[in-house]
Amino acid sequence: MNIRMLENTVEKMMESPKGLLAMDESSPTCAKRFASVGIEDSENNRRRYRELLVTTPSLNEYISGAILFDETFNQKMSTGDLFRDFLTKINILPGIKVDTGAKDFSGHHDEKITEGLDGLRDRLADYSSKGAKFCKWRAVITIGETIPSNACILSNSNSLARYASLCQENDLVPIVEPEILINGDHDIIKSDKVSQITLESLFEQLDILNVNIAGTILKPSMVISGDKNKKRADTQTVAEMTLNRLVESCPSNLGGVAFLSGGQSDEEATEHLNIMNKKKSELPWRVTFSYARAIQQSALNYWRGKDDNAEKAQDILKNRARLCSEASMGSLTT
Ligand code: 13P
Repeated sequence: MNIRMLENTVEKMMESPKGLLAMDESSPTCAKRFASVGIEDSENNRRRYRELLVTTPSLNEYISGAILFDETFNQKMSTGDLFRDFLTKINILPGIKVDTGAKDFSGHHDEKITEGLDGLRDRLADYSSKGAKFCKWRAVITIGETIPSNACILSNSNSLARYASLCQENDLVPIVEPEILINGDHDIIKSDKVSQITLESLFEQLDILNVNIAGTILKPSMVISGDKNKKRADTQTVAEMTLNRLVESCPSNLGGVAFLSGGQSDEEATEHLNIMNKKKSELPWRVTFSYARAIQQSALNYWRGKDDNAEKAQDILKNRARLCSEASMGSLTT
């Protein structure tokens, strides 16, 4: 493990006023997103769409790194350039999602365990040799009447820590993503409690497995009411409770924080981040974005697979990236 190299990558990923673009939807998830706007699911269309994303003019003013799916990482653009080389050329670090998905957790109804540890060391060595700088692993925590179970939190935290340790062995910065799903009718207090036990378990496991914390990025969900809750907390409360939770439950030497959007509207995702960053001078780490839907979805909705719509779709994407960037500085004015 080369600590200087990890810290250098963390510094670039967390550079102000930028954030991360998550464009690592697995093929089934991408198929779902395409189906919602009537685009045929094919390798060629996935390439066309992702080429549209990465060739958006001035993207690198707002985006420091892009998380890719394996297919894109090894894919060529229409110009013949590999996506990963193109990104490096335009000063956007290429990253790679390395988990193989959240699967049903044995013996635990309605809960998930993320797979992908078998053979991970060899895959990471390969990605690292091809220019990847960081990785992502997503764990899924579901809130319900009697869940999450301790078993689900512990097993996922331990997997995240094992993944992170293997990443660092290969000089790759691990993004650890314990996503607490927004789905459900729970209130924000429950979301906060689950965030607390999840983050505390995660940092305990990272510590037990000797993961270098300064060389690690946390990708958390926000502390937020469930999407079916009748009295959802307002934006100010979400931002304040999220920040308080992070300050209380995360070590101050953490490399940085980059949120997922998790089904929030575009406006909510930027507004929450903006309010949090009004206090950025008081925080021990940078707090930015690693959004997929809150950057991409409006552009995808406009594009609909049509070349004639590409330029305007890129304008829409650029605008979303710019707003997220401003929110990451607390300077968004609405
Ligand atoms: P969303 O921003 O759409 O939640 O996606 C982020 C992500 O990378 C999920 O793993």
